[in-house]
Amino acid sequence: MQVAVLVLAAGRGERLGSRVPKAFVELGGKSLVERSLETLSRVPGVNRLVPVIPPGSEELWAALGVSVPVTLADPVCGGPERQDSVRLGLAQLPADTEWVAVHDAARCLVSEAEVEAVSRAAEETGAAILARPSADTLKIVRSDAVESTPERSACWVAQTPQVFRVEVLREALDKAEAEGFVGTDDAQLVERLGVRVRVVPGSARNLKITTADDLRIAAALLR
Ligand code: CTP
Ligand code: MG
Repeated sequence: MQVAVLVLAAGRGERLGSRVPKAFVELGGKSLVERSLETLSRVPGVNRLVPVIPPGSEELWAALGVSVPVTLADPVCGGPERQDSVRLGLAQLPADTEWVAVHDAARCLVSEAEVEAVSRAAEETGAAILARPSADTLKIVRSDAVESTPERSACWVAQTPQVFRVEVLREALDKAEAEGFVGTDDAQLVERLGVRVRVVPGSARNLKITTADDLRIAAALLR
């Protein structure tokens, strides 16, 4: 199984409030996007990495001088929403690409084993994501009041990578676009096609760096 990975780094990082776009922020002396690319490049089967970066950040990207042992495609400029960035990255894949993984550059502590496990599950079923059982009870809240409480044991927190057959993700994005639907992850769009998405347990370590506190937690995990 050969997998191309879209490494989504085109967000601005408003909640982190950094001077540079979030993916270029350093953690232990290395940018988040670089850490993600390096880990992904070591996973057997990953044969192409496509960085999706913020428009205007080409110089920042070049200055990183990323060097990895698999094909690193030229960076693609992302769009206003994450979903736009996925679409733009997908458009740059070679025509013979069969499998695609979508990964948030902000999840830079993902392990090689996790990427391998979710890829294998996708190979068996066509679509798979990493996710973690929710430790907290979740509430559906509307107008400052609890509407309902889903059964905790059925609640999982979605992570990335999320791995799909390329044509399935393409179809899912086309359908979402045609219907004006914007999702918060890629699996959600695939689920809307009626495709079953397999869940592979990920670790708490695979956190998404969103706030300054997350950056501190990630730094502690690295030590
Ligand atoms: N992302 C992207 N293109 C966008 C928005 C997000 O490629 N238009 C990427 C981010 O770079 C990040 C991942 O998607 O790696 C998850 O998004 P998020 O954590 O929300 O990052 P940001 O959008 O950068 O942060 P914020 O929402 O706080 O601005
Ligand atoms: Mg965002």
